[in-house]
Amino acid sequence: MKVVILGAGKMVEAILQGLKNEADLSQFYLFSPSGKSAELLAKKVGVNFLKNLDDVKDPTWVWIGCKPQQLKNLAESIKGKFPSAVFVSMLAALSESAQLDILGVNKLIRIMPNMPVKYKKGITLLSSVSAHEELKQISNLFSVIGLSKEVKEEELEELTLLTSSGPALFYEFTKNLAMSFTSLTELEREGLAKMVLAGSGVCAQTNSEELNDMINEVTSKAGVTIEVLDEWRRLKLGDLVIGGILAGKKRSAEIRDSIHRS
Ligand SMILES: NC(=O)c1ccc[n+]([C@@H]2O[C@H](COP(=O)([O-])OP(=O)(O)OC[C@H]3O[C@@H](n4cnc5c(N)ncnc54)[C@H](OP(=O)(O)O)[C@@H]3O)[C@@H](O)[C@H]2O)c1
Repeated sequence: MKVVILGAGKMVEAILQGLKNEADLSQFYLFSPSGKSAELLAKKVGVNFLKNLDDVKDPTWVWIGCKPQQLKNLAESIKGKFPSAVFVSMLAALSESAQLDILGVNKLIRIMPNMPVKYKKGITLLSSVSAHEELKQISNLFSVIGLSKEVKEEELEELTLLTSSGPALFYEFTKNLAMSFTSLTELEREGLAKMVLAGSGVCAQTNSEELNDMINEVTSKAGVTIEVLDEWRRLKLGDLVIGGILAGKKRSAEIRDSIHRS
């Protein structure tokens, strides 16, 4: 079962690092226009470097790992090359039907992975109408590197900001938390804050309680921690979070429109 992967950037690297040693990658072929990133990554994770797109015949799957703005160029470069392949696209912002249209193909599965797949702790959302029958196979593969969840396309679209952008949102909060103190060096404080994030992550994964109950375990009535939380609630931290997410959704629509117009 041949897999051609187009694009060798950060997300493809995280997926392949996660799959390395967990799945048979001997029939995976990695391509990038520069050639450099694909050659380097292919060596690192033990897949085949594909220098020329004509060098591989009849792949079962073609994965798309470029940016949404690069899809039209990619479509030009593969025109008529992989007629019977099922496409698997990790692109944000562009709908399944728009991608089928741009690529001129019949079957496409949308996947939305996140960076923690690198350590087999990721989440991959999947949706497809055109390749519904093939969805399970891809879902099974991604379940090796974390939670693999089949959803409707509108759910994948909305939850991309939670699951795929999510790691960056937690890092930003953690950075701000570390910067709220003065002891030790900035780097040492960041190290402590990252450790708190990692430890809390283990608690969140192991503990089946709801987040509110977990907050209650750390706080005590009229104590110091609840004072911090109450002040944040008075300052409407929740509204700040929602405001950022709305800006992200707006940007997603802008990217979609600009691709359609170009
Ligand atoms: N980063 C994340 O956390 C994340 C999460 C979920 C989904 N995604 C999605 O994953 C995709 C890639 O994101 P990224 O962060 O990995 O980007 P990236 O690091 O910039 O990688 C983009 C890759 O696409 C390749 N590329 C560009 N034009 C191409 C073409 N015409 N044909 C084939 N390959 C082409 C580039 O090749 P060169 O190396 O030769 O320049 C590069 O290897 C995006 O669509 C994004 O929406 C990313």
